[in-house]
Amino acid sequence: MRDPGRLEVRLGPLRLKNPVVTAAGPFAYGREAASFYDLGALGAVTVKGLSLEPWPGNPPPRAVETPAGMLNAIGLQNPGVDHFVQHDLPWLRRFDVPVIANVVGKTTEEYVEVARRLDAAGVDALELNVSCPNVKAGCLEFGSDPAVAAALVRAVRRVTGRPLLVKLSPDVADLPRLAAAVLEAGADALSLINTVRGAAIDVDGERPLLATITGGLSGPAIRPVAVRCIWEVYERLQAPILGMGGVSSGRDAAELMLAGASAVAVGTATLVDPRAPVRVLGELEEILAAKGIAAAELTGRAHRQAGAGVGTGLPGATCSAAGGDGSRA
Ligand SMILES: Cc1cc2nc3c(=O)[nH]c(=O)nc-3n(C[C@H](O)[C@H](O)[C@H](O)COP(=O)(O)O)c2cc1C
Repeated sequence: MRDPGRLEVRLGPLRLKNPVVTAAGPFAYGREAASFYDLGALGAVTVKGLSLEPWPGNPPPRAVETPAGMLNAIGLQNPGVDHFVQHDLPWLRRFDVPVIANVVGKTTEEYVEVARRLDAAGVDALELNVSCPNVKAGCLEFGSDPAVAAALVRAVRRVTGRPLLVKLSPDVADLPRLAAAVLEAGADALSLINTVRGAAIDVDGERPLLATITGGLSGPAIRPVAVRCIWEVYERLQAPILGMGGVSSGRDAAELMLAGASAVAVGTATLVDPRAPVRVLGELEEILAAKGIAAAELTGRAHRQAGAGVGTGLPGATCSAAGGDGSRA
């Protein structure tokens, strides 16, 4: 018989009953997902980015399918933090699952105020999105420079003692350095990765397929990027990591955990299969049972096999060990 305790993981100060979480965005605020499965089956749910005022998002077209993934330029459309606190959070509370609220803003003051209101409302954890490629002002501007990102984290830390995750972009020069800066500033864990900047062009119409021209690439196409980023950051810092990027099976989740993630979030896969997070969990359980190990034992396990990063076949291992800038020959 399986022991549910063997699925429990820690993500910094957060204790999760299992390592599978929803990624911010495709899960929205949970109402659609709840018609397909019991949200209480998951380790946690992360809700879509919340800003101080409602944001309308970008004009259409703002999503396009690509090989093994999709580009989106939704632009963090959301009803605003107060709407979430009044309508969605009380509804989510009927499920036995921790709620992680994703926070966005155009200024430091805005991030801080959203965090303050979510803290007062009693969310279980905050995830600062400093990595969205789809909004003109803010967001990625906060997540490119270690000093700027650290200042934002310090400002938010002053208004909340709740578990604080910071979600980073793979599109930065030196991800381990950025990650170290936000942890030093008070973050408890890192969410890796947000979408990868991309673009697509309609060859017949000879014009970009997204109104914003560029968007964020997600889905299976970016999983190797996620594995590389998690690998580099874990190798350098051994920090708690919520891994995400192209997870659509238990094997994918195991891959991110072997690279160093303590828990794994499922995003784009839910747009293809709404039950994807619970399916991923079931498949991951089978992998753990076959290996005869607890979920927490999977985290970073491939680093041991890699022998201190030598001969891993993962260029990030040697790159980060050398303090490299992320560029590849
Ligand atoms: C439609 C869509 C909306 C998203 N919205 C958010 C968001 O509000 N906040 C955020 O931090 N990330 C957002 N993301 C990024 C995802 O949470 C995730 O980091 C990324 O898509 C990689 O995971 P995946 O390949 O499993 O989707 C969004 C992604 C998609 C596809």
